[in-house]
Amino acid sequence: MGEADILDGKAVAAALRAKIAEDVAGLKQGHGVTPGLAVVLVGEDPASSVYVRNKAKQTKAAGMASFEHRLGADTSHGDVLALVERLNADAGVHGILVQLPLPDQIDEDAIIQAIDPAKDVDGFHAINAGRLMIGQPALVPCTPVGCVMLAKKALGDLSGAHAVVVGRSNIVGKPVAQLLLQENCTVTICHSRTRDLPSVAAQGDILIAAVGRAEMIKGDWIKPGACVIDVGINRVEGEGGKSKLVGDVDFAEAVQVAGSITPVPGGVGPMTIACLLRNTLRAARAIEGIIQD
Ligand code: GUN
Repeated sequence: MGEADILDGKAVAAALRAKIAEDVAGLKQGHGVTPGLAVVLVGEDPASSVYVRNKAKQTKAAGMASFEHRLGADTSHGDVLALVERLNADAGVHGILVQLPLPDQIDEDAIIQAIDPAKDVDGFHAINAGRLMIGQPALVPCTPVGCVMLAKKALGDLSGAHAVVVGRSNIVGKPVAQLLLQENCTVTICHSRTRDLPSVAAQGDILIAAVGRAEMIKGDWIKPGACVIDVGINRVEGEGGKSKLVGDVDFAEAVQVAGSITPVPGGVGPMTIACLLRNTLRAARAIEGIIQD
């Protein structure tokens, strides 16, 4: 068997962003509405700072309004909560994203649940998580949507495929499992306590890796010909002591076994931001009562 097809998330995301920018222009012209996204960053975690900068840049490039709120690492829970409440009440803000993780003095779950579900473009609020679970219209977490888009790009119809999700976080593992179920996959969710994880993973026609451990998933964990979606972004020391980004999948091994695979970087990552813009556009339409034209 030859090498796997590389799923170019960068290109798919760029096409999606172009379509969103067109729709934003239409919303402005037709309805006088400019979708607005507020991003809240508490502290100076370097990786989070890079994400927030990229989000702001791409929000503006899509023609939306971007509001950045950078707060000091010692900001109190009450002050973050007060900001979220202000953003909930701000008519120019259609989407609110509080970058995670938050410093220890802040109750992360309480902050997420304080966000107006209609503006919850991360899809982390219990209302949106519950709606996703029962198949009602919802704001759906961005990375999981990006994963499913790339799997469909590789395989077309996912109906009947066995999808194995490694990882059970609220941000990726659980919501991606729900989306795959909606696509009529047979879904297995694995985690650190799963017995004989490699052999379970190797049953997946689709393998979603979302564990946050550098190159944990080896070639013999992969069913020959499978579609491998790597959500991991891990910084490790590379050659010459320089740091580099790797996924949760050992790419060099996996590319020899899989049918298709996402690279890191340039796979799922760019899809996440594109899907965030998509959610912001959807939130703006819903809040403003605009039916998609
Ligand atoms: N930190 C890592 N991923 C995410 C995400 O998707 N949303 C937010 N808000 N924070 C994150």
